[in-house]
Amino acid sequence: MFLNSPLRLGALELPGRLFTAPMAGVTDRPFRMLCKRLGAAYAVSEMVTSKRELWNTLKTSRRADHAGESAPIAVQIAGVDPHEMALAARYNIDRGAQIIDINMGCPAKKVCNVWAGSALMQNEPLALRIVDAVVAACAPLNVPVTLKMRTGWCQAERNALRLAQAAESAGVAMLTVHGRTREQGYKGQAEYDTIAAVKAALRIPVVANGDIDSPAKAAAVLRHTGADALMIGRAAQGRPWIFAEIAHELTTGEPLPPPTVEQVRHWLLEHLLDHYGLYGDYIGVRTARKHIGWALAGVEGGRAFMHTLNAIESCEEQLTQLSEWLQAYAQRHTHWPTLAAAAACAAHERAQRTGSANDEHLQLSA
Ligand SMILES: Cc1cc2nc3c(=O)[nH]c(=O)nc-3n(C[C@H](O)[C@H](O)[C@H](O)COP(=O)(O)O)c2cc1C
Repeated sequence: MFLNSPLRLGALELPGRLFTAPMAGVTDRPFRMLCKRLGAAYAVSEMVTSKRELWNTLKTSRRADHAGESAPIAVQIAGVDPHEMALAARYNIDRGAQIIDINMGCPAKKVCNVWAGSALMQNEPLALRIVDAVVAACAPLNVPVTLKMRTGWCQAERNALRLAQAAESAGVAMLTVHGRTREQGYKGQAEYDTIAAVKAALRIPVVANGDIDSPAKAAAVLRHTGADALMIGRAAQGRPWIFAEIAHELTTGEPLPPPTVEQVRHWLLEHLLDHYGLYGDYIGVRTARKHIGWALAGVEGGRAFMHTLNAIESCEEQLTQLSEWLQAYAQRHTHWPTLAAAAACAAHERAQRTGSANDEHLQLSA
């Protein structure tokens, strides 16, 4: 089936067409490996700065950690200076990168204040000088360069199509478009008309991204855009088997039954061990909390349990308590909640919180 068919990228072949989106602070090596294990064909690293003076920091070296990761290794670079970006590409290739992705999609202030990320879309000549420099650095090594962008800078300046065509002419091998403008941040809804227009105009593979959170949405985005592949970010947080769910349902027409609680316990604990290994105890126990929180969102009692878990400061204790909680949950439920059940549970808990907040407010104002 289409989503399981390989996608050629220069001399490389991606084994399928469902990708994990790069997310700074999330898609580190342990998370990428988990996604790949559970159905993602490809996962791009969190962005690595082109600033040479930061390459030896612990943060950047953790981001450049690919130990044990299955090929192809893709590293995203972010910056504003063409020469520095070319050097960053070569530096990462020397450390194992097989694909270099240029970030023109991230709206974060830290990135955009220095005119990197999606801010580059506002300065097309500079954006293209960066593309030229990075392609020139990578081409002699046979390393494909890919580009990730938004639909434009703002509603009135949706220049994705023009920039995409210029990038293709400059030698970019694959293009991802997130269906929002820089101005939107993550607000509103992604639109797919611009992605469809880019796909129709380009010969290189085009990847659609933005708000894909279910098999039905994946099917609709594929239909609307005709994209060659789909990229999923936030919906994989806490639910990394979403790639398998989408591939299965779009291939067979039937929903994939949710995993058993025991399977999820196994994946989550393995992920956490890998996570602690990368970050060490002090950072590891703290950064693991968000992954556990995402996993337990929409699981009955999960939110209340997170209060207990957030107070724990040792990795060993965190792992033990989580394992025991999941074992107790497994006594009551054999399977993990479906997407619909998780959404209903999260909505119910939200309503309860709002209800009790309103009650408190009434008591206070009485
Ligand atoms: C926490 C977070 C961090 C992100 N970091 C990056 C990044 O480093 N590089 C990038 O190109 N996009 C980044 N993005 C954008 C995502 O790759 C993706 O384009 C966006 O989340 C829309 O896809 P989604 O709706 O499937 O999440 C980030 C998004 C989030 C939520």
